[in-house]
Amino acid sequence: MNQVTVSAPGKLVLFGEHAVVYGKPCIVTSVNQRMYLKAQKLSEPIFILNAPDVSIKNYKKSLKDVGIGELPKGATFVEIALKNFIEHHPIDTSGVYISTYSDFKSTFGFGSSSASTVCTIFALSKLFDVKLSNKQIFDLSYKTVLDIQGVGSGFDIAAATYGGTLFFVKGGQMIEQLSISNYKLVVGYTGIKADTPTIVKEIQAKRDKDPKFIDNIFNHIEQIVIQAKEALLKNDLEKFGSLMDENQTYLENLRVSSKILERLIKAARKAGAYGVKLSGAGGGDCMIALAPLSKKRAVEDAIEKAGGQVIKVEVNAEGVKTEN
Ligand code: MEV
Repeated sequence: MNQVTVSAPGKLVLFGEHAVVYGKPCIVTSVNQRMYLKAQKLSEPIFILNAPDVSIKNYKKSLKDVGIGELPKGATFVEIALKNFIEHHPIDTSGVYISTYSDFKSTFGFGSSSASTVCTIFALSKLFDVKLSNKQIFDLSYKTVLDIQGVGSGFDIAAATYGGTLFFVKGGQMIEQLSISNYKLVVGYTGIKADTPTIVKEIQAKRDKDPKFIDNIFNHIEQIVIQAKEALLKNDLEKFGSLMDENQTYLENLRVSSKILERLIKAARKAGAYGVKLSGAGGGDCMIALAPLSKKRAVEDAIEKAGGQVIKVEVNAEGVKTEN
């Protein structure tokens, strides 16, 4: 194979963000806005990357220098994924051309870095005929993210790899596919990009100062996640919604919510949602609302009126796959 195009879904965390970094479970769903990646073999031992969505145009270096020196921000995840792939599965002398394109903006918090990492590992495995299981794709992609960020539970990597809706424990200790009925989420973007590693480190500092207070919150969140799994499996949307509200209260107690998030959340609740919460690290990115179908439009309008941007997504999307 000389060339392959693959795609991986973005994600939204439904329950359990932050606590998941400390070994508690979370629930994450994949969304139908996808990252696409084309990989091509080259006859020279070079690496070329085009990723216009993150301002990378004809970035080029010798294959032996991959991962070395200062890397442009937009190239980092693909380049370190390539480095990790080559280290684990030495390829012949040929080089690689990669280009990426995304349905969604990297500012949404849909996990564009993770999706591009998973796409890179999967595409290279196809291109160089290396058989990798989903767990091996997950492990190499998670290693890539940790090499770069040093922190992270890996649920976004799992969502990009496996797709669907997952009950997940840090590092892939548990990755359980939940068989659920379809439901509609309303997603509102705040217009602000969250700095996830910084927020995660802030929570770590708070926990170092007052472990009892923070661990108590994490224990409550864990109970919510366990109940949410049951509610999802039973398609009990009202319960699912009320657990979202409860989870949001604990995120507010952690002080990771923000004025704009809370404005959108309040507006969605007032318009009749079953439940609403932020999704992800907090501080910005997106909020999610679950509403009865009859109120979905009103909830969307309320979010827009409050200054948010409604992003249309379907949940439970397919994991990483070949496109051609
Ligand atoms: C960020 O989307 C979610 C966090 O739980 C961090 C992580 O799980 O890697 C805050």
